[in-house]
Amino acid sequence: MADRTLASDELIAALPKAELHLHIEGTLEPELMFALARRNRVDLPYPDVEGVRRAYVFEDLQSFLDLYYAGCRVLVTERDFYDLTAAYVARAVQQGVRHAEIFFDPQTHTERGIAFSTVVNGISGALADARHTEGFTSGLILCFLRDLSEDAAMATLDLALPHRDAIIAVGLDSAEIGNPPEKFRHVFERAKSEGFLTVAHAGEEGPPEYIWQALDLLHASRIDHGIRCLEDPRLVDRLARDQIPLTVCPLSNVKLRVFPTLEQHNLAELLGHGLRATINSDDPAYFGGYISDNYRQTARALTLTQVDVIELARNSFLASFLDEHDRQSHLETIDALATGSG
Ligand code: HPA
Ligand code: ZN
Repeated sequence: MADRTLASDELIAALPKAELHLHIEGTLEPELMFALARRNRVDLPYPDVEGVRRAYVFEDLQSFLDLYYAGCRVLVTERDFYDLTAAYVARAVQQGVRHAEIFFDPQTHTERGIAFSTVVNGISGALADARHTEGFTSGLILCFLRDLSEDAAMATLDLALPHRDAIIAVGLDSAEIGNPPEKFRHVFERAKSEGFLTVAHAGEEGPPEYIWQALDLLHASRIDHGIRCLEDPRLVDRLARDQIPLTVCPLSNVKLRVFPTLEQHNLAELLGHGLRATINSDDPAYFGGYISDNYRQTARALTLTQVDVIELARNSFLASFLDEHDRQSHLETIDALATGSG
């Protein structure tokens, strides 16, 4: 393969990809939001679907979270969570996702009186059906809301224990600044002792210190976002040495003004430092694109080569929680495509 050949849209579409940073509530498209609002008789503060899209202009993470949590009010029944998840899977499959490790925010729903089991059963039901019909594999990651207390996270972990077979890991999301990983060290310790893997959002808006805490106090297997790591050369050495995956979300980072433009995103530098970076869509209904949209737009903005996007797709499986057999099988498919595309 010619080393500097630019990545084509066809290659990006054809590459099998794993999606590792995807909030299921962030896949709620305005059309489905309106359909569920009607079904559940929930009032929406928008005149129509276009009005929702017009409202999606964000200053920072918090201004997005305000709309994201408000949108979640239309999710009430198990069928709603099933439909939400099935709609995501349909789009993901179209964009070459073969495996997804999906975040959900139970506290957003239990705080409104929705049962934990309603949420998990709806999401898991759609994922089980996707496995049978599409061969689409997945895992579920329970995220604690870091702007709430550690006690609230503990109570949520209690609710999760009867569903432990449906959940592979716990994570940490919501408003980062002022809510460092150390606030959750006890609940993560307990989750680990109960057999859950751990991941954490860190270094999206927060400082490199939060990434250190996610690694050393929460024993995170992956860092979600992590893009501020480049401010700390010792941290870059640590992430490179241990090949800790970073689940990077380029369109999200531009929408939430972490970078002013996609051209100024640091993804190529992360790869240049030998870091195991991946591309993901975060909250695609809010940020303007699913996974291949993220790959395509980022490849164009940063003039990524075929070699780069193949590395990104390989990284997504290397960073996943798949077993070795399934991981190797996806990597072999990518390697066969790589040989054929030069
Ligand atoms: N960051 C933090 N919390 C979130 C996000 C995000 O990008 N999306 C949904 N919850
Ligand atoms: Zn996220």
